[in-house]
Amino acid sequence: MPSATTLAAQARGYAKAARTLEDENNLKNARELYLKAAKLYNDASKISTDKTDTNTQRDLAEHLLNKAQSLKRTSVHQSGSGVSSRDGGGGSETDESSLSKDDLILKEIPNIGFDDIGGLESVKEEIKKAIIYPFTHKDLYKMYGQKAGEGILLYGPPGCGKTMMAKAAAKECGADFISVKTSSIVSKWVGASEKNVKQVFETARQSEKSIVFFDEIDSIAGRRSESEDYAKRVVNELLAQMDGVDTADDELLILAATNEPWAIDPALRRPGRFSKLVYIPEPDLDARAAIFKINMKGRPIADDVNVNRLAEITESYSGADISAICKEAADIPLGEALRGGEARKIEERDFVKVLKGRKPSILSWYVEARKEVKKSGEEAVFDGIVKSRVD
Ligand SMILES: Nc1ncnc2c1ncn2[C@@H]1O[C@H](COP(=O)(O)OP(=O)(O)O)[C@@H](O)[C@H]1O
Ligand SMILES: [Mg+2]
Repeated sequence: MPSATTLAAQARGYAKAARTLEDENNLKNARELYLKAAKLYNDASKISTDKTDTNTQRDLAEHLLNKAQSLKRTSVHQSGSGVSSRDGGGGSETDESSLSKDDLILKEIPNIGFDDIGGLESVKEEIKKAIIYPFTHKDLYKMYGQKAGEGILLYGPPGCGKTMMAKAAAKECGADFISVKTSSIVSKWVGASEKNVKQVFETARQSEKSIVFFDEIDSIAGRRSESEDYAKRVVNELLAQMDGVDTADDELLILAATNEPWAIDPALRRPGRFSKLVYIPEPDLDARAAIFKINMKGRPIADDVNVNRLAEITESYSGADISAICKEAADIPLGEALRGGEARKIEERDFVKVLKGRKPSILSWYVEARKEVKKSGEEAVFDGIVKSRVD
């Protein structure tokens, strides 16, 4: 991946060429290049480590995007069509200020079910009550005056099943799963992010029954007091859209996940929004054994491999860690066989060897999480983190 400096340099080149084309009145091509430059500056701003650079690049991206849009209006005007591309006059051209649906949204019927998730039994039960039963037992909820369908925020250490849990929930209740790539909401074209949020909800309302899932929501819903202007607009739009969801009529549930719940704007946690918080903890002993078993399925495992022992020696490893350990362990005999050795089964020693070179990935998350939660004074809100095991 190119560095921020490289991207910014490329962006400068495109912007310069665009200006030349504009002077020559070649507006169509000028616009293309302005857009390219805007995209490159925006990409650069995301990976810049220097805060001032980030802000400058973002501003430049926004400026160039506006420039491209103004050229578009001029060129449509010039061509005399009198019809803006938004009304269909632009033929195949799309309105680049908002993303295409495919960019933003992954609409799928997930093929992950609760059985594919090791452990987390109490979380599964909680998810059933909060997500699945409101869909499947709507009348009961109504009868007892229980308001179904509050937004739910899954939070917890990375790699422990938040994304999986959201997919499984959608599969279990047969809803369309509209998974929003949050990074793409803000990444592609600066300045149009709030439009993209709106589009997500419009798409969801067209489905008969859907779960909208904002994965890694921290990347679009930071505290407004600490955000740039465009990020504030995104949060405001998200709030407005969530307030507009009438859970009685819309068969629409909203889920989000984050490793950094303390970074999210607190207004998003008010009633009717993400008012339910569900902590997805690291896998306990039984869960780790279950995750090992899930990952061993379909692989040749030698008799000397003891799943319970592996679970014992992998305390603090995440589900993602365990999944990676199994892949790497399988790689050892595979490599040998590829080099002409006998195609043997995966043995205990392969797992042990892999484990020696691999530290648990989530310990640093706890340190950061505790510090941040304390700083925000919200220990009572994120009690999942506070109560989690300390080493
Ligand atoms: N409880 C679990 N059971 C089975 N596999 C898991 C579990 N937790 C994590 N994994 C593995 O780790 C990967 C990442 O999990 P994911 O749900 O994306 O984590 P998160 O969203 O919490 O960061 C999954 O694709 C899966 O392979
Ligand atoms: Mg995830």
